[in-house]
Amino acid sequence: MHDFGNSYGKITEYTPPFWSTCLEKKPTHKINLAMTMTPVHRWQPRIMPQGLDLYIKRDDMTGSCLGGNKIRKLEFVFAEALKRGCGSYIKCGNAQSNECRAIALIAAQLNMDAYLLLRKNPRSLVSQTPSRGNFKIMEMCAAKMILFPENYDYETKIFPKTTIVADAIHAKTGKTCFIDGRMFHSTAIHGYLRVWDELLQQDSKVKIHGVAMRKDDKFFYDIIDDILRDVGLTHVKSRDVVDIIDGYQCTDSLEDTLRLCNEIASSTGVLCDPTYGGRAVKALRDEFIHNRHRFKGKRILYIHTGGIFSVFDHNLPPAKKDMKTCNWEDVEKNLMNFV
Ligand SMILES: Cc1ncc(COP(=O)(O)O)c(C=O)c1O
Repeated sequence: MHDFGNSYGKITEYTPPFWSTCLEKKPTHKINLAMTMTPVHRWQPRIMPQGLDLYIKRDDMTGSCLGGNKIRKLEFVFAEALKRGCGSYIKCGNAQSNECRAIALIAAQLNMDAYLLLRKNPRSLVSQTPSRGNFKIMEMCAAKMILFPENYDYETKIFPKTTIVADAIHAKTGKTCFIDGRMFHSTAIHGYLRVWDELLQQDSKVKIHGVAMRKDDKFFYDIIDDILRDVGLTHVKSRDVVDIIDGYQCTDSLEDTLRLCNEIASSTGVLCDPTYGGRAVKALRDEFIHNRHRFKGKRILYIHTGGIFSVFDHNLPPAKKDMKTCNWEDVEKNLMNFV
């Protein structure tokens, strides 16, 4: 097949950055799906305090519908699935999961079946009808979705069902299924190591701070420690290489976060989703004001991890004062007040 001069959608051999060659379990292949070397630029949302010299790395630009951080890891994990000859891909997530949306799109591109075991999103209203946001895209891609109650625990009540589904698919079609779970974390991290490599090339040598969402900081430190052990870095401890900011899991109402996202959009033209981006920016602002010693210096780089489609999962209107939409009949006599 003609390759049109690029390797988009193709599996290629992967050579990790030289500084990561000491890691064990390095992936040998990746499938090229992400638009990388995403830009870094200065960023001044109105809600940020004086004295903060803020920059943003635009990983929301890694693709159009495949935008966000998940595509970076999926390049490696899907390559593994293809190498194993799998016809179906199984993943658990929330009904508004950015990762499950990306999986549905990639599976459709690669002619695979996506089976998504989804927990109804507690933040979305009532049900998924009419379908919105990421869920809408999963539907458009004809992903096979199985829904679970919103209070079901992933580890104990949803993930165990993946093998049952995989066995049924195998019995019916003879095809092997790929179950995406924790055992692929050590493969997935290579997507994020590529972000680090880009930052080195973009001249940003930074200390990493992460904001804990959904679970507490200990949960994330433990996962990182597991990964470090798994890739042979037994002498490195998560707490020495990353600072996880705790306490922003559900400190505000959805309406407040949506208002903050509106402020960011109207002052910078960058869209943040209320689930991850909006809350991470809030954490950055509040920590910079109240806990400033946490950050070295005042130059901070925010990594925008995408999540754009969950902006379309909410039907709360923007705050009244932000609304700038009027009918011509109402505005024509008083245009001076509108402009
Ligand atoms: C938009 C967005 N940002 C950040 C995250 C967190 O990513 P990770 O779990 O890989 O740290 C997710 C996914 O859970 C996400 O969808």
